Amino acid sequence: MKRNLFITFEGPEGAGKTTVIQKIVERIEEKNIEVLPTREPGGIEIAEKIRAVILNPEHTAMDERTEALLYAAARSQHYFEKVRPALDAGKLVICDRFIDSSLAYQGFARGIGVDEVLAINEFAIGKKLPDVTILFDLSPEVGLARIHAHGGREINRLDVESLAFHEKVREGYMLLVERYPERIKVVNADQDVEQVVEDVWSILLDVMQ
Ligand code: TMP
Repeated sequence: MKRNLFITFEGPEGAGKTTVIQKIVERIEEKNIEVLPTREPGGIEIAEKIRAVILNPEHTAMDERTEALLYAAARSQHYFEKVRPALDAGKLVICDRFIDSSLAYQGFARGIGVDEVLAINEFAIGKKLPDVTILFDLSPEVGLARIHAHGGREINRLDVESLAFHEKVREGYMLLVERYPERIKVVNADQDVEQVVEDVWSILLDVMQ
């Protein structure tokens, strides 16, 4: 069974990534595979500080290029400080969001350009992409309604963007599926959590073989 895989989860706000990731991590551990769950932006002290700057709802003046560069800076530090060493040590790494978030949100939805954002990310982390990416697909109406209903989660600067922005994020993700069909696997997130876990698990079992 393959061990040092780099697996990322993507999708909109309210798709249930965090809950599903926890359950998937438990299943991987049951197979006696060492797994490191982490998240972006964040996962280590420097990147969590950058996260606080990016997502602060008061930072309405932030230029979209600044936003893209800050995500890339957080990614670089997190990748070289935490992800790469864990992979090198033979661990399986699961990351809640990675480069595809930048390509969909900053590259496509903000309109900077997917190739432009890819270029700054290649500067940040090199050409390494995840081994597999699970994309949770969900309409933005359902996703945003879920996060407002749950109340427990902070509402960040990107959550308060218009519905049109979140529609573009979804469109951006779908373009990435066309661009990286081998790597990005789409899961319908508009189902019971248990069913989503089963769908993700069957994809991962295939990849881990
Ligand atoms: P989350 O950690 O709660 O998913 O929130 C992170 C927010 O940051 C979410 O709205 C998606 C956004 N984001 C980007 O726009 N670009 C990125 O590269 C990453 C990692 C996240």
